[in-house]
Amino acid sequence: MPRIVDLPADNSGLREQTAGLLYESFRALTPAWPDMDSARREVESALESEKICRVMLDDQHRVMGWAGAMPHYDGNVWELHPLVVAESHRNRGYGRALVEDIEAIVAARGALTLWLGSDDETYATSVSGVDLYDDIPGAIRNIENLKGHPYEFYTRIGFRIAGVVPDANGRGKPDILLAKKIG
Ligand SMILES: CC(C)(COP(=O)(O)OP(=O)(O)OC[C@H]1O[C@@H](n2cnc3c(N)ncnc32)[C@H](O)[C@@H]1OP(=O)(O)O)[C@@H](O)C(=O)NCCC(=O)NCCS
Repeated sequence: MPRIVDLPADNSGLREQTAGLLYESFRALTPAWPDMDSARREVESALESEKICRVMLDDQHRVMGWAGAMPHYDGNVWELHPLVVAESHRNRGYGRALVEDIEAIVAARGALTLWLGSDDETYATSVSGVDLYDDIPGAIRNIENLKGHPYEFYTRIGFRIAGVVPDANGRGKPDILLAKKIG
């Protein structure tokens, strides 16, 4: 059975696997982590003391998922970042389990809202490739998932689309903001 634990900062092997998971999972989706060094820096950042950094381990003690979170607004709001499940393990409820684990931890720390941004850099939704300023609420209300964008994963597990950041990743490539009430 997979289990979710704090990523041990002193375990260089698990840290390297976590960086590899990030790099492999996102390289086709975003230029954010173009190489292993940038992924390693992201792991370092996630291990900072005020943040939460959880990994899902399989029976052989290998990293198969990663979820992190950081506080904003005096801890009322926590940002979920990053979230990733190894491709070979998707669609089995592990993403949901990782988010539920983070929800429980931030709830115990007094959070009211869990929030995240889910970029659309690959024209995977109807809110990309258009000028959102014409009708932002309408674009959100009528959003369609064209290519399996993860925003729908989040709405399935209780998040609501709380906004968009137009052109966040270049013209027509927005960030989709999602939020969930905690507690
Ligand atoms: C997004 C991600 C974490 C989901 O993890 P997962 O383990 O596959 O998700 P789960 O199996 O827990 O799915 C929970 C529900 O969401 C649905 N779902 C999962 N991914 C989905 C998608 N891309 N589009 C629509 N629905 C999706 C599942 O079918 C399931 O629905 P159900 O409750 O009706 O059965 C995983 O696909 C991933 O790591 N993707 C690459 C990295 C990424 O995009 N991370 C998010 C960045 S914001």
